[in-house]
Amino acid sequence: MWGAATSAYQTEGGNANSDWWDWELRPDSPAREPSGTAIEAYKRYARDAAMLGELGLNTYRFGFEWSRIEPEEGRFDDRELDHYRRMVAAVRRAGLTPLVTLYHFTLPKWLATKGGWLSDEAPRLFERFVRRTVEAMGDSIVWYMTINEPGVVSFGGYLGGLPFPPGTRGVPSWRRSIAMLVEAHRRGRAAIKELRPRAQVGMAHSMQQWAANWGGRPAMEYARRLNEDVYLEACVDDDYVGVNTYTGQTIALPVPLGVATRAALRFGPLERRLVPRIAAMVRSQSEPEALVKLGGRRTQMGWEWRPAAVATTVRRVAAMHPGKPLLVTEHGVATADDAERIEYVRDGLAALHQAIEDGIPLRGYIHWSAFDNFEWAFGYAMKFGLIEVDRRTQERRARPSASYLGGIARTNRLTVDADEPAGGL
Ligand code: BGC
Repeated sequence: MWGAATSAYQTEGGNANSDWWDWELRPDSPAREPSGTAIEAYKRYARDAAMLGELGLNTYRFGFEWSRIEPEEGRFDDRELDHYRRMVAAVRRAGLTPLVTLYHFTLPKWLATKGGWLSDEAPRLFERFVRRTVEAMGDSIVWYMTINEPGVVSFGGYLGGLPFPPGTRGVPSWRRSIAMLVEAHRRGRAAIKELRPRAQVGMAHSMQQWAANWGGRPAMEYARRLNEDVYLEACVDDDYVGVNTYTGQTIALPVPLGVATRAALRFGPLERRLVPRIAAMVRSQSEPEALVKLGGRRTQMGWEWRPAAVATTVRRVAAMHPGKPLLVTEHGVATADDAERIEYVRDGLAALHQAIEDGIPLRGYIHWSAFDNFEWAFGYAMKFGLIEVDRRTQERRARPSASYLGGIARTNRLTVDADEPAGGL
């Protein structure tokens, strides 16, 4: 599977029933700009899909917006379900296999009001939404993803590593949100498999290439366990595991601090005091401008340049779940220079190819993102797209990286003829 990805909220525009919408418009919101009309994918989806198909890709990962389908608790909007049915049909007509994400960071406002993923009811309500949606889609979709990056949702929103969603933060709510997300995934997956036994169901996991010195090890193991492993373990019955990897995290601490962290993390009251502080620190240091100042080669997001990190994470999942089909469901780079994107894809794919050679059942590569889009709190400045979007005119223009990946997709080979515009390794 060779594809590109987007999410509903980041591309559709006008998602006024979603919790992010209110948050981005609050006068005290740290969001740099509101999503507004985004890239108008809600009405431009047919042409968008056609473009991806023409490039040579065969898979499109995109999302359904829960807050459109169920704008009020228990009221399902048939017009929105029709809309998504038409969208899936357009994607298929374009020669693309749809891979549909059912939850990608945004909740309907009514559920956020109940506490979002802290609410006891959330897993059951997610299951009901999934059931109604999957029933409505018939057999037009084989590939489903229940949840995108549960680790980011729980660490970000419920521990405080990110500013969204606002609400209760701390270790108890973090752990609770983890339990709720895992349960929601289990229930969602069971519902899909009951309705469509042949469906392929999984999640997308945000994973890093971790590294630490001796002092940093306890913190690294703790973070990796609660951000990644708890969800990877919940995937043992999934049909595939989706890996989203952009970069790496290195934790270097002096030895005495390492000893102290190990002790503190084992002792509940200290853990509860220490960990939210670290999360707040991570948050305050995640501004791209501050990260860029740390030096070394970095992307527009300020993330370290690590195109091959994705192969390390794929190998880690393969070791945890031997034989399980794997998909890279996001990998990419925010850059104003498209030649850098080609380099990122090329180096990432070369490392992934080696993993395949080593027998890892990697079934596909889906690039983030198909189009420049709304990069959450950082707005539209981050250029992740294979396809450039001019938001004043909403005009789309395929970048050279789009033809590059399309060429690889078409030939299903990394080495393409040097004369071809797609370029080769
Ligand atoms: C998310 C996307 C996001 C991308 C780049 C992933 O964490 O799934 O929604 O745009 O990373 O930050």
